[in-house]
Order: sequence, then structure tokens, then C-alpha cells
Amino acid sequence: MDTMEERAAVRDKDIMMAPAEIRIAPPRGFSRAAYVKNMEEYESLYREAEMDPEGFWARVAGELAWFKPWEQVLDWQVPFAEWFVGGQLNACYNCLDRHISTWRKNKAALIWEGEPGDTRILTYLELYREVCKFANVLKRLGIRPGDRVAIYMPLVPEAVVAMLACARIGAPHTVIFAGFSAEAVRDRVLDAQAKLVITADGGYRRGKVIPLKERVDEALGDDSPANRVIVLQRTGAPVTMRPERDHWWHDLMKDVTASGCPAEPVDSEHPLYILYTSGTTGKPKGILHTTGGYMVGTYYTTKLVFDLKEEDIYWCTADVGWVTGHSYTVYGPMANGATVVAYEGAPDYPEPDRFWKIIEDHQVSIFYTAPTAIRSFMKWGEEWPQRRDLRSLRLLGTVGEPINPAAWEWYNQTIGRGRCPIVDTWWQTETGMIMISPLPGAIPAKPGSGTLPFPGVIAEVVDEGGRPVQPGKKGLLVIRRPWPSMLRGIWGDPKRYQQQYWSQFPGIYLTGDGAVQDEDGYFWLLGRVDDVLNVSGHRLGTAEVESALVSHPTVAEAAVIGRPDEITGQAVVAFVTLRGSIAGDDKLKSDLQDHVGRVIGSFAKPREIKFAAALPKTRSGKIMRRILRKIAVGDPSVGDITTLEDPTLIARLREEED
Ligand code: WTA
Repeated sequence: MDTMEERAAVRDKDIMMAPAEIRIAPPRGFSRAAYVKNMEEYESLYREAEMDPEGFWARVAGELAWFKPWEQVLDWQVPFAEWFVGGQLNACYNCLDRHISTWRKNKAALIWEGEPGDTRILTYLELYREVCKFANVLKRLGIRPGDRVAIYMPLVPEAVVAMLACARIGAPHTVIFAGFSAEAVRDRVLDAQAKLVITADGGYRRGKVIPLKERVDEALGDDSPANRVIVLQRTGAPVTMRPERDHWWHDLMKDVTASGCPAEPVDSEHPLYILYTSGTTGKPKGILHTTGGYMVGTYYTTKLVFDLKEEDIYWCTADVGWVTGHSYTVYGPMANGATVVAYEGAPDYPEPDRFWKIIEDHQVSIFYTAPTAIRSFMKWGEEWPQRRDLRSLRLLGTVGEPINPAAWEWYNQTIGRGRCPIVDTWWQTETGMIMISPLPGAIPAKPGSGTLPFPGVIAEVVDEGGRPVQPGKKGLLVIRRPWPSMLRGIWGDPKRYQQQYWSQFPGIYLTGDGAVQDEDGYFWLLGRVDDVLNVSGHRLGTAEVESALVSHPTVAEAAVIGRPDEITGQAVVAFVTLRGSIAGDDKLKSDLQDHVGRVIGSFAKPREIKFAAALPKTRSGKIMRRILRKIAVGDPSVGDITTLEDPTLIARLREEED
């Protein structure tokens, strides 16, 4: 719990600032036109869902297309839920086919920009045709319903095509963020037993080419379950194509048509995708999402949280390699028939106004990004957004980590020009959908708070014994009832699923986050209470980074902690003890940083490496991270150290500091 205490100390200030007078009511004009217009409407929707959750979610499910109706809304065998049991549908059908039988066939589905400035716009009909063709390609390569397909691509239209084509034929995809290393690709392909990898010759990032195909070659040995690779030509970077195994995307697409590929009706509980995320052990967890409930949850939250209207131009800046890209770039918005903007590259390329230029050029009306990005923009200066016309914006959103009130205010004034509600959305890879967030036309915001739960979500703050705590008291955030887009398990590891999320309070979902509810019932998120870090909105397990470090020949032992950071939320700091008589120097520090980059991905590189003669441990051998966290920020108090095995160590660690 000590991480929570520390975070809470940082956030106490924000929470104190939360009395009624800083409630920011939605602009009146916005509320008038919103789906949910005021608190009364929100409360009545919330009550409806609370009193009859199954009836509520069934009503929402009725807005999607089903090939076969469900017989039972929910079968809850703790902790295994099945939603819309007996029903059949297809996620791709709901994202595409449903729209092309209407006028929406001529509506832009995807407005895409590459980092070098190339653009493509695909209407729903065009996207549908590409997806059908690529689904035919997958079938020709022998991919059958249930087969896993790994996607390791930059954010290009073909990444979306690949995801939807997999969904169309019932093949669960596992998207691997292009920032991950070859080793990370190998582990994920192996764990998911993926038969096929879809990649590109490269992707652009800050003007450089990320060598994706090269990394795939490194990742797939002869014994890999994946014996086929499809390569998209994106950058023209030279690659080695292995005959038999590797195929060019454009060659395969030449030989197929868009016909003869109806969407495969799958059971509501058919796996839609596996997405790996960091946990408290060194091994990432394959979070499993299935079809029916996931589509219902993402469809409805997209509609209400973003108050998404037919004419909106919607842009979520997340990469499809993360859950936000799955739920709020692809499945949620497209199930709503929205026009979605996607951008391949970095926010400051070629200049720090790239995002604002995209908003201006494409007349974006809904913009959803991460607090860490907002803090970077603050640092780069107001002049960048100021020189762009941002009047098309009507709603702003954030996700991934708590937003500090100063960043909230900057976002509100400098980007929203004081006219756009901000939705601070709390959720997780595991929850699949937004769980706590303002409904923008109804719920007044308080900067830094996710405000209230979405209808159908029963969120609570409890103590270690599972008892609800009083307003203003810190505790663990839990979700009391199953919800349709909840994870269905950890791929291949039902025990870990049960143990991780459902064992502390049986039948109640443990989020792993700390939280406080204020007098108005608003939720204030305090960050993780476990050994998971949040760096630039990306989840990273301390154990993952530690195991990467100890795989280096010079390292005997490593302990990784997060230090608060103004821009990235947390920064990775690693305490390392070296083997034998090896002496640590700056060269070795940078070697170790690069090593972590190679093992996990460059976003996981420790910001700082500190060599230590030994690590502070309890007598039972547990590393006392609490102490390391204090040392990392130069805090003189180390608290209770009576359990410390070697009390003199602290002084020595501090000396090494100086
Ligand atoms: C954190 C991203 C505060 C939280 C969708 C959670 C947040 C983890 C917020 C999940 C928010 C996400 N305020 N904290 N609005 N949104 N988090 O799985 O600690 O990448 O547990 O999903 O991010 O990260 P994940």
C-alpha cells in the first residue's frame, strides 16, 4: 500500500481543491444537443442500469446487428462471465457491413495521415472492400476461425484492415505495438501460438524508419508457431524476404477480389483478440476479449462518453498497439459508423504543432489523447497550438493516467479555448471499455477527477478487508458487478486470472488502482497500488524491467521503481548491483539502458541507472522498494526500517547518490 500513500500525498492537493465551487458545468449549448443532457438524465440512466443491469445491456445490444439472438444475457460463474449466451454476431459486420447498406457507404470511415505527410481517406465502402479482400487473403493462407494472427505494424490503414479482416473470419488477432522489440514479439507469438505475422518493411517515427520486418526475422526462429509472414511495403526499406514463409501484401492482394467473403457468424463468446499487457510478474499477460459483450461495451461508451454524432470527425491519438486503439480507434467508433482520424507518427514531427495542424486540416471535432502528451505540449509552448485554427473542436478527452489540474486547465484553455467539455476517462486493458468518466453534457467536471461511473458500472473504494471506506478516505478501487466488455481471462492461464483479479475479494473485480471518492461521490484515481508503472501512459511491470536487466551478463540483481516525473507521469529508475568485481561507469549505464530497449522496447529504457553495492531487503529477502523510492527522489525520511536486514545500507546507498 505504500505506493498509494506516496501517490496520495501528491494528489491530496488536487483533491483538496475539489470543493463544489470548482465544478465546471458543461457548456449549455453542448448539453442541449447531447444524448444525456443533465444530471437527472444521467442519474435515471444509472439507476435503470443498477436496478436491471441485464435488461439495460440487452437494450444496448439491441442496437447492434446479430445473426442469431441471445438466449441469456449473462451467465456469471464467478469469475467467468459469458454475455449474450447463444447469440451470434460478427464484430467486422457491425463495423462495416451494417453501414454500407445505408448512405454511410459514402461516408469517410478513416482519414489517415502518414508521418511524412501522405494522406489517405477511405469511405466505409472502400474500407469494406479492402477488408473483404484481405480476409480472402487470410483464408487463402489457411487461416481458419480460432487461429491466432499477430499484427506488428505501424499505424497505417492496413493495420486497421488487418484487424477487421481477422475479426471478419473469426481469427483472433494479437496486435503488438511497433515499439516492442524482437524479443517481445517472439514471446507474444509463442504465447498466443500465432500462425501468421502481419508486418511492414518499416514504419516512420520522427523521420526514422523502425525496422519491423527485420525484428520479425529475428523473432521467428525455425521452431516458431508462425510459419507465414505478410509484409506491407510502407517505407521501401530493404528487407530480406524468405521464400515459402514471406509474402508481400500487395502481391497477395492482386490475386483476390472483395467478393465471396461474408462475415463469419461467431458465438458471442468467440475470442475477438488477445492483447498483452504488463502485470506484476516478468511475464506479460494476454488479456482476452470476446465478441458480443466487448462490442456492446465499446459501442455504447463511445456513443455516450464522446457524445458521438453522425457529423463528428473523431480522433483518438492512441496507437492500435494499445487497448485504447482497439476500443476507441477501431471497434467502438466504427460500430457507431464514425469518421475516424488516425496518424502514424510522432506529435512533434516535423514540428511541435503536428497534432494541431491535423485538427485544423481535417476539422477534428472530438479529440482524445493522453495527459503525458498534453504535458509535453505545455512544455513546447502555447505558440504552437495558437497558430492553428482549432474551432472545429467540441469535445476533448484524456486517458491512461491521472491528469494533474494544471495540465487539465491548459488543455481546457489553450486547446478547448474554454468551450469544450473534457472527459477524463478511467479504464484498463482488462475492462475493455471506459468505466469512470463524465458524460460530457451531463456531469460537471472537476479537474483531475474521472467523476462518476458509466451506467451499468458499480465502482467502489474499499479497504484491505473489502469494506467500503468513507468519502475522503483512500482505498482500493473495485468493480462490483460483471460488465459486458470485461476481460474473459488471461490467455492460457485461468489460474493467474482468478488469482490476480478475483482472489482478494471473491466475486469482485480488483482493479489494482488506488482511489478516493469525495463528498459528491466523484472518483479520484491515485495510480497503481501494485508493482506496475505508468510511463507516458504505458503500462510497464517493474518485474519485466528487472528481468530484462538481470539478463545482462554484468548484472547480479536489479530493483526497479517509478519516480514521479513532470512530463511522463513516472520515470523508470533502476538500482543495479553488479557481478563480482565489475565496476559501474557511464558506459555500462548506457549499455544497460540499451539492453532493456533491446529486450522490451525503447519506451521501457530506464531513465536512470544507479549502481549499488547491495539492495535494501527485509530479513525474508524482499526488496524494500519503498526505501528505494525515497532515495530516488532524495527524500531524507525512510520511515520504518525495523524489518530491514542491514540498516547501514541506507547510508551507503545515499552516499552512492552523492
Ligand atoms: C491508469 C489504458 C487515472 C490506471 C486505457 C489503470 C488512469 C491503467 C486513467 C490502465 C485515468 C488509465 N486516470 N489513471 N483517466 N486511465 N489509468 O491497461 O492506473 O494501458 O489501471 O489501459 O492506467 O492502463 P492500460
